[in-house]
Amino acid sequence: MHKSFLVGWLLLVIGSFNTSAVWSQNSNSAYSYTATKEITATKGAVVSAHPLASQVGLEILKKGGNAVDAAIATQWALAVVYPGAGNIGGGGFMVARLANDKRIALDYREMAPGKAHKDMYLDAAGNAVGEKSLNGHLSGGVPGTVAGLFAAHQYARLPMRVLIQPAIDLAGHGFKISANEAHGLNNNRDDFKKYSTRPTAFVKATEWKAGDTLVQKELAQTLLRIRDEGEKGFYQGKTAQLIVDEMQRGKGLISLEDLKNYKAKFRTPIEFDYRGYHVISMPMPSSGGLLLNQLLKMIEPFNIGAMGFETPASVQLMTEAERRAYADRAKYMGDEDFVKVPVNELRSDSYLKERMKDYVPGKAGNSTLVKPGNIPGYESEETTHLSVLDNEGNAVAVTTTLNNSYGSRTVIGDAGFILNDEMDDFSAKPGSPNLYGAVGGKANAIQAGKRMLSAMTPTVVLKNNNPFLVVGTPGGTTIPTSVFQTIVDIIDFNMTPNDAVNKPKFHHQWLPDRIDIEAGFPDTTAKKLEDMGYKLYTRKQIGRTEVIKVLPNGKMNVVADHRGDDAAAGW
Ligand code: GLY
Repeated sequence: MHKSFLVGWLLLVIGSFNTSAVWSQNSNSAYSYTATKEITATKGAVVSAHPLASQVGLEILKKGGNAVDAAIATQWALAVVYPGAGNIGGGGFMVARLANDKRIALDYREMAPGKAHKDMYLDAAGNAVGEKSLNGHLSGGVPGTVAGLFAAHQYARLPMRVLIQPAIDLAGHGFKISANEAHGLNNNRDDFKKYSTRPTAFVKATEWKAGDTLVQKELAQTLLRIRDEGEKGFYQGKTAQLIVDEMQRGKGLISLEDLKNYKAKFRTPIEFDYRGYHVISMPMPSSGGLLLNQLLKMIEPFNIGAMGFETPASVQLMTEAERRAYADRAKYMGDEDFVKVPVNELRSDSYLKERMKDYVPGKAGNSTLVKPGNIPGYESEETTHLSVLDNEGNAVAVTTTLNNSYGSRTVIGDAGFILNDEMDDFSAKPGSPNLYGAVGGKANAIQAGKRMLSAMTPTVVLKNNNPFLVVGTPGGTTIPTSVFQTIVDIIDFNMTPNDAVNKPKFHHQWLPDRIDIEAGFPDTTAKKLEDMGYKLYTRKQIGRTEVIKVLPNGKMNVVADHRGDDAAAGW
């Protein structure tokens, strides 16, 4: 990390703590930064989608905060410096294993508004209309992020006003945007104008370019209200009224009552052992932890380590596990507060063994033949992940999202933040694919107050009951398979975290029946898979995985994905 950046940033953070509105001050720190992709740390580390956000987290650790403090501050900062996915207008999940062995799975997923109903995205002919569930006011669920960060705060050490202040400063002073951000804002310019009813900081007269300053005064004011009034600064009072005014101008559904009633919920994490390691991940309403459990346990009986990384044999085995797990997702998974999900049955050893019975090495499976399993008596890709580990042993994995890139592209007028388009993660019509091509069934049908099924998989892996990996990624339905692949790469193929993160990834999700591969996937393996009968599809990048691995000497190997502006910070 650039030295002048560090010094400037520290001054800004320290200077901000005692002030109320500080963006009239000047600082160079947010204008001079670089993305460090890999570091070794001893005292603590943060890895996230943006260098400024990772740096905020690190400074909080240095000020005596623990990993939860750092995760909260990093998320507030991401809401400013990474508007495409960092958010206060979306939702997310936090999985943590604290030094005292407490395990946390915090659900702050968006919720369907009170006026939402099963058929709200169907046209007169009964067909799902993606335009409505993906874009604009009607696509937004009730945001959960602010409630989630306040719920997590009981495990933090520093006051919330300290954790949120760097974000307020970044929003009010502005910061230098990267080439990726300039590209994203320019690409979405017309959509911001189309789906917002008020002028927004994200649209200016000329095209954005790398190095331009993005100032978000309205967002700074919203964050100040949250700092001064707590959760109520978002879910009640002026901010809530601004959200509802925006809904009324754009025919959205979120009401004052929906906002007031929103609650983050603590869930019981999904936990299981894999080859002597212990995995802790997110339960419903994310499918991520259960899918990861199914995937790892389906391949555990096989000696995949001997097959080797991205050989035809290992890719085929993992693909066939993915096919079966995603078929189960489509039928059984949804918000457990509304539907019964047979979690224990779906992850039982006998069920998973049975599921793999028709797997034939060397021959492609077929998604028309491989149906969801039989449980008797049952009915943006722009997400972002951050991993934090401190020297006390607190490990925190957070994945948070607006769904699509820049969510609904509806910016809440005079409040300066983007509303999610998470309603598209519901199954608008059984069998009809969503943004990620994933199909769903009744278990994930829209219902007022229900949380839409997610694939986010923030995960902590323990070895001998100590933190070993803190891992997660964005990527919609590719999230569980990327976390799966990363864990297998590190545990079974003995790969470095850098290789596990950055080598090409692959993905299968039952339907469509094909293996998605990233550019750079080995040609020889691709050819052999085609010979077995698989269809392959080369697609744009899969995920942006952030990993912290604890090395045998106790140091932390911290890796930020090279696919974006992601950056590691530590000390
Ligand atoms: N919107 C992506 C997910 O929640 O899985």
